[in-house]
Amino acid sequence: MAALTIPAPSSPYARLLGVGAYRPERVVPNSELVEAIDSSDEWIQQRSGIVSRRFAGPDETVRSMSVAAAAQALEAAGVEAEQIDCVIVATVSHLMQLPAVATLVAHDLGTNKAAAFDISAACAGFCHGVTLASDMIRGGSAGHVLVIGVEKLTDLTSPTDRGTAFIFADGAGAVVVGPSDTPAIGPVVWGSDGEHYDYIRQNIDWGTVLRTAAETGEVPPMPHMTMEGSSVFRWAAFEMAKVAQQALDRAGITVDDLDVFIPHQANMRITDAMARTMKLPSSVRIARDIAEQGNTSAASIPLALERMIADGEARSGDTALLIAFGAGLAYAAQVVTVP
Ligand SMILES: CC(C)(COP(=O)(O)OP(=O)(O)OC[C@H]1O[C@@H](n2cnc3c(N)ncnc32)[C@H](O)[C@@H]1OP(=O)(O)O)[C@@H](O)C(=O)NCCC(=O)NCCS
Repeated sequence: MAALTIPAPSSPYARLLGVGAYRPERVVPNSELVEAIDSSDEWIQQRSGIVSRRFAGPDETVRSMSVAAAAQALEAAGVEAEQIDCVIVATVSHLMQLPAVATLVAHDLGTNKAAAFDISAACAGFCHGVTLASDMIRGGSAGHVLVIGVEKLTDLTSPTDRGTAFIFADGAGAVVVGPSDTPAIGPVVWGSDGEHYDYIRQNIDWGTVLRTAAETGEVPPMPHMTMEGSSVFRWAAFEMAKVAQQALDRAGITVDDLDVFIPHQANMRITDAMARTMKLPSSVRIARDIAEQGNTSAASIPLALERMIADGEARSGDTALLIAFGAGLAYAAQVVTVP
């Protein structure tokens, strides 16, 4: 048997080097949505914490939003596109089944034919991507990796669905992950619960849509997301606090060592419930980007991180706990150092 040559990894650790964001132009207040779902601004704010969100226009695509967020992350990191060895795009709303949008994004950015692929882990996608990036760098498969979380969920949301129309929104966030001499991305705690695959899902698969159209001559309505809101709420608020605590334990720190808490921006009440269950000290600054951004699934954590850095709420060197969870069910959490 031939002995393989495997070079030693060039970096013992990885870190986030820069963050970027793209928020679509159009701001949509609750008042624009309430009529179609027989709701009110007050109800939406009380139940979800959402005041407004951004909806992408026809020219703001998964591709263009990814490129804009990634370009900003590269600039913030001081890294050139040619230095990127891999582009990971976390999304569930790139409506082209194949190929991955990541190859287009890598090309648009001017990488040197970087490896590029999409991952489908819904709202947990960004934290999955950060884990993959960190392990690639530590394992020697890549020097610098771009991780992008992007969604155009308006394409998959029915404006008349009372349980989802006011929650989901559009946007993109990105980070550059690169080598580090010191630990700056903690061990991941991740997993899935396929028993509850149905909690959040597309109401009908594309194959059925096309076959129905072919057989009946009528094109069915665009597929949209459905959600068992209260089941998701209970799972997220209680089970995910345990996962967040495990991520702290695995990183060898406690809530007292935390500066920043950035949970997936699913619902302000879920964030509050998690913070209470984890007994976060009042000194921990908590991401509340959902108020103005809605739930942008894979984009929500990098968008919230970018906002907290811009507002001075997260400072370079701070210790931040990230936890993402959603459809699948899928989840991932890790502690990171703010770039
Ligand atoms: C969606 C969500 C806000 C709904 O809140 P809820 O308190 O669970 O609402 P319920 O479905 O139990 O309905 C409670 C009441 O509000 C009403 N209601 C439901 N949707 C409504 C809406 N959009 N506007 C006004 N009233 C509404 C219901 O009819 C019900 O009325 P009733 O008590 O008279 O029967 C909540 O379940 C939630 O946030 N779930 C988690 C969602 C999430 O984070 N998903 C993403 C995970 S990645």
